[in-house]
Amino acid sequence: MLKVTNLSIHYRERKVLDNISFDLPARQLIGIIGANGSGKTTLLKGIMGLLPIQAGKVEILGESWERVRDRLAYVPQRNAVDWDFPASVLDVVLMGRLKPRTFFSRYTAEDKRIAQESLEQVQIADLAQRQISKLSGGQQQRVFLARALARKADVYLLDEPFAAVDMATEQTIMELLQTMREVGKSIAVVHHDLNTVTAYFDYVLLLMPDGVLAGKTADIFTPTNLQKAFGGRLGTI
Ligand SMILES: Nc1ncnc2c1ncn2[C@@H]1O[C@H](COP(=O)(O)OP(=O)(O)OP(=O)(O)O)[C@@H](O)[C@H]1O
Ligand SMILES: [Mg+2]
Repeated sequence: MLKVTNLSIHYRERKVLDNISFDLPARQLIGIIGANGSGKTTLLKGIMGLLPIQAGKVEILGESWERVRDRLAYVPQRNAVDWDFPASVLDVVLMGRLKPRTFFSRYTAEDKRIAQESLEQVQIADLAQRQISKLSGGQQQRVFLARALARKADVYLLDEPFAAVDMATEQTIMELLQTMREVGKSIAVVHHDLNTVTAYFDYVLLLMPDGVLAGKTADIFTPTNLQKAFGGRLGTI
């Protein structure tokens, strides 16, 4: 579902991703694992076309980004979002229905039905009219997931959906992601908790100081590879 060839992304002089390549299959739950600052968010933004790519190629479902962008949904890292923006939960979820080329079109009854259904899927239908600034961290995370669900996408990229959520919320989200995989969606999740990687993910993309490793979780998520990826910091994460 995601084929990256010789990809490089730099911020000014800083090379964050330098000539990386990997190929991950569709219809799987994929964990993106790596130390703080290793470039996980940068990679997702590059794939989503939110950052300029210096070199290389990204193919999604065998197509270029331009051709599949309506089939992609992205959940940004929660701390990267301006939560003071005055909008209700329902407004935010409805944004998931916007297509890039029809920004000023009105929402249809179908859009509203799908937004409502998405809120129900993440169990926050009762919060629809609340201001997003007045939600807890876990509730905000669910709002963003609902917005992604409302896109009815085929590929979902989630940046740390489990950050600052309690176990009940994590379980709700995880069960939902598993159901999505069963119906054929492809899902990549940036994830920090190494204890749950094996239970959650079929495949892993591991960001290392000198490149990436991608493959089945059992093959990639090994003590040796983790030591290389996290170095001396392994004890502190
Ligand atoms: N807008 C930016 N301008 C310059 N450097 C940046 C910018 N955004 C990120 N970086 C740097 O790029 C590197 C990768 O950042 P990125 O946010 O992709 O890491 P990450 O793996 O998502 O980390 P975390 O686990 O903390 O979310 C870091 O060293 C970071 O300081
Ligand atoms: Mg990040």
